[in-house]
Amino acid sequence: MKKSIGLKKFNTAIFISGKGSNLKNLIKFSKTKQSPISINLIVSNNAYAKGLEYSSKFNIRKKIFNFKKGKKNDNHILFFLKKNKIDFICLAGFMKILSNYFIKKFDGKIINIHPSLLPKYKGLNTHERAIKNKDKFSGCTVHYVTEKLDSGKIIMQTKVKVSTKDNAISLSKKILKKEHQLYPAAILKIIN
Ligand code: GRF
Repeated sequence: MKKSIGLKKFNTAIFISGKGSNLKNLIKFSKTKQSPISINLIVSNNAYAKGLEYSSKFNIRKKIFNFKKGKKNDNHILFFLKKNKIDFICLAGFMKILSNYFIKKFDGKIINIHPSLLPKYKGLNTHERAIKNKDKFSGCTVHYVTEKLDSGKIIMQTKVKVSTKDNAISLSKKILKKEHQLYPAAILKIIN
């Protein structure tokens, strides 16, 4: 993606479902001079997502959608995004699966962060699976969102060493720290 002339930043929506530490980190990044994105909207499927608190903290509009299946519902969300001139979407701990119809409308303009070294451990419980398999390394991946879950082109990855003392919680903490470095770096890589 090329930044438009006049150095205008991409209007970005962050989709969350929970804590929102990646959201907070991306907001901070978006305020730096080098950031090619501005964060204009926080979207959640979960009205109780803790991350929604960053809406008032940083004065960013928030919107809850139920993400029910069906074109009618998708169009409702798409219309709202269009009205708010959103041209880029970052999924950050977003637990719903977007429909093919939705993804096509934002073709190549939705990215996601996943807590594993994709293509290993698509889907849920990545840390539990890495520990169970006694993996020496795990990590995180930023990738494009396509119709197949966690299977779009990889933008960037970071490896993390798994120690024999790690459990799923300690590993998730280690990886989350790396996610906070990786997500901005991946955005800088694809938008220049
Ligand atoms: C992160 O590990 C992300 O990779 C995964 O869910 C977690 C969300 O954390 N998809 P947060 O809500 O950004 O704190």
